[in-house]
Amino acid sequence: MDTGIDDALAIILALNSPELKVLGITTVAGNAPVKLCSTNTLRILEHLNTNDIPVIEGMEKPLKQPFSGALGYHGPDGLGEINLPPPKLHTKSTLAWEFIAESVSRNPGEITLIATGPLTNIAVAFQHVPGLASSLSRIVLMGGAYGLTQYGKGNRTPFAEFNIWQDPEAAKIVFDSKAVISAIGLDVSMNPSACLTKYHLKQIQKCNNPHARLSAELIKYIINRHTYFELHDPLALTAALDIPLFGFISAPIEIITGDGWDRGITRILPKEEISHHSAYIANTVNGERFLELFLSRLCDD
Ligand code: BDR
Ligand code: CA
Repeated sequence: MDTGIDDALAIILALNSPELKVLGITTVAGNAPVKLCSTNTLRILEHLNTNDIPVIEGMEKPLKQPFSGALGYHGPDGLGEINLPPPKLHTKSTLAWEFIAESVSRNPGEITLIATGPLTNIAVAFQHVPGLASSLSRIVLMGGAYGLTQYGKGNRTPFAEFNIWQDPEAAKIVFDSKAVISAIGLDVSMNPSACLTKYHLKQIQKCNNPHARLSAELIKYIINRHTYFELHDPLALTAALDIPLFGFISAPIEIITGDGWDRGITRILPKEEISHHSAYIANTVNGERFLELFLSRLCDD
């Protein structure tokens, strides 16, 4: 993950989801420079007294493109200026791609990678260890804009979603691999029924536990600046819980690489395009049920 505000909420949701056992978090340059993403991950975990999840710092820039962050949205500290103290916890000294490769190789068919940032670490792991993709259970990722709904347009450019745009070369490696991929793109994450409003913030502010209090601070920063808050990363994480909230289509996907106007486009190809591996792409979401789940998991002690 590239821990900005919605990534942080995905961590909090994961910690409150009994379906998941979080084996580790690798950070990657995306919303913020990778060092700040690592610091933010540690700050969130430490604040919530979670000291047993290893955090491993990953790639500091995309495979070929220069790094370009999104602190304008997430705030100068990447976490909506919530003023958490510097962490006492440290990142592990191993490399992110090695951590991914070792975890997967030790548990063939068992591991789900949940990617809420650019796909650089995963691509590097796949480059180093041929066949690794087939040893995964699956990848659930936040990324792409597939034109499947009126919301499936770009957010970084008019055509491309931020995570894929940031490192399209990595995204191509991942989408062209043999991994089973479930992609949650803007088509569903920008659906207003799955977004938070002032009304939801008020509900969370009434919940008296550290997870809800931290979430409310993070959410407040965005709600004060925008009318609603798109929960891209928590929504993607929810797709790993196997709760029937989404509809998916299966289609071969082409990722447009390079640095032209079309960088980072995620294009659905005709089914016959067997040169490309198919991925599951979300085309519907039950936003109301998702928000109910999100709020209840934050609020239940
Ligand atoms: C994605 O981009 C980032 O800014 C968010 O954290 C999310 O992962 C949405 O396009
Ligand atoms: Ca993210």
